Amino acid sequence: MIKMNIVLLGAPGSGKGAQAEKIVAKHGIAVIGTGNMLREEIKKNSELGKKAKQVMDAGQLVPDGIILGIVNERLKQPDCKNGFIMDGVPRTIAQAEALGKITKIDIVLDLEVSEKVIIERLSGRRFCPNCLAVYHVINTPPKKNGICDKCGSRLEQREDDRPEAVKKRLQEYALKTKPLKEFYKKKGILKKIDGGQPIEKVFSDIENAIG
Ligand code: AP5
Repeated sequence: MIKMNIVLLGAPGSGKGAQAEKIVAKHGIAVIGTGNMLREEIKKNSELGKKAKQVMDAGQLVPDGIILGIVNERLKQPDCKNGFIMDGVPRTIAQAEALGKITKIDIVLDLEVSEKVIIERLSGRRFCPNCLAVYHVINTPPKKNGICDKCGSRLEQREDDRPEAVKKRLQEYALKTKPLKEFYKKKGILKKIDGGQPIEKVFSDIENAIG
């Protein structure tokens, strides 16, 4: 068991969600996944969900103010006291600076993956609109084609996994998120992980990095 505050940094499809799930399963720390939090709001059809859907489907980033609001609330919940893993946040320098004022980050794991692998992963990803479980048609398929193992719902492709949206997400990543590598490197807490390896091997490298 670890008690650490971890950030998972990486391009769309680099495996942040897959690794966050494994870290949480092994270490029982809280997960703060802004993509899933926003998708929950979309599912509820809340005002926030309606606003976020348009931006997300187009592959753009949701405004910093909205993200910081939901993360701030999440950090106040008691399960975050024993450590947490941030999946997909921060994603801009402004978010990182604001987070630095409200919490302490111990380590930033930078999942490095080539663009070719990213495209293969995102084009083959399927998700469950009911329980948000994630699959890949080749790498991690469900037992029954197109059906969620966990709740039996029909799997779908994410709107933002369409080629035009993926292109935009990769541009947003290069422009707004990649600079975070330098930001955290200067703080001495950035650790590079080869995210292009099989899921279990990436996880074992993460385990070594977090000790
Ligand atoms: P979010 O849901 O966080 O999307 P993302 O960052 O683009 O990341 P992905 O979910 O696409 O990929 P991942 O790295 O988690 O990969 P995964 O593990 O699923 O955010 C969605 C949107 O919300 C954003 O575009 C933005 O609009 C908004 N948003 C969220 N946070 C925000 C923020 N902080 N600021 C502003 N806006 C924000 O893996 C991908 C596939 O590959 C899966 O099928 C998986 O099974 C498979 N796979 C994973 N690892 C491996 C492996 N090692 N080998 C083989 N297959 C693998």
